[in-house]
Amino acid sequence: MTTPLLYSIRMRASAASHHISGAERLSDQERVSIIVQELMTRALSRGAAPDRIVVTVEALKGASLRELRSLDLTASAASDIADCRQAARTMLLSFGISPLAIEAAFQHLDDGPAPSGGNMRGAMIMDAASGTRLEPDHERGVRVSRFDWSDAASGEIDRSLARINLTHFRTKEALALATKVAYAPGIIAELCWSDDSTYTAGYIASRATGYCRYPCMKEKGIDRGGRVFFVRGDKLDKDPLLSFLQYDPVLITSVGSCIMSP
Ligand code: COA
Ligand code: AMP
Repeated sequence: MTTPLLYSIRMRASAASHHISGAERLSDQERVSIIVQELMTRALSRGAAPDRIVVTVEALKGASLRELRSLDLTASAASDIADCRQAARTMLLSFGISPLAIEAAFQHLDDGPAPSGGNMRGAMIMDAASGTRLEPDHERGVRVSRFDWSDAASGEIDRSLARINLTHFRTKEALALATKVAYAPGIIAELCWSDDSTYTAGYIASRATGYCRYPCMKEKGIDRGGRVFFVRGDKLDKDPLLSFLQYDPVLITSVGSCIMSP
């Protein structure tokens, strides 16, 4: 018996050469056309009208699928930026990440981490001791790809997040991305806040502590943000890390807990 092919379906939409939205799924052959339709609908339903939509359907031949349980999610009820950032810093320190690296990471996300001054197109990889950036291209960064929720896990995480009023699509997608990152070889933790000026939430994620969501990591109206993957630079084997993050398919088939922190 032959193993059924797994397809990666990826959508990106842009206007005047600016990326506006992107999303991706993993699927068997039967559902490819439905998912393409769903992703097209999504590309056309964002505020700005795209002038280009690219949908890629790619068979992942020979790739073995890794099944993961989503990180446990804890949502902080802190309501101001100073409290959220302080809690995030404390958590990063608890992983052994140096104050120097933590401040470098926050500064990059505040300023726009691309050398040209804006946001990056992917994530930074940062040495947890020195704060040195290790991603191959500082303008682009590393983009995590080839991950999705199984149907059952997708329904379950929707219900779990709705119970704590986290119904924004970004929370579910960021939790999936952070789960893949947390299981990547050599990753200590991830720091993220969105570059969407209307979305102020961010998170710290690691295998040890799960996904800790902070509702306000920046002021509304600020369109700077990004992602930092902390690693031990002296022990890093970069190729397996980059290959896992970008190419190894990961399906989230079971769901961790989702709670509001007391
Ligand atoms: N920001 C800015 N530009 C982006 C981008 C992003 N997030 N994603 C893609 N692009 C643009 C870039 O110009 C890129 O060229 P580059 O590789 O030199 O940066 C170009 O599109 C092609 O990107 P590529 O990754 O090859 O496209 P793809 O069609 O294979 O995949 C995505 C596109 C958006 C689906 C994928 O990159 C991605 O980000 N997947 C994760 C989506 C997700 O769930 N995100 C949740 C985050 S909360
Ligand atoms: P977002 O959460 O979509 O607002 O993205 C915040 C930042 O994360 C962006 O500015 C990028 O720097 C980075 N980013 C976006 N997509 C990815 C990805 N697929 N993998 C890694 N980093 C990403």
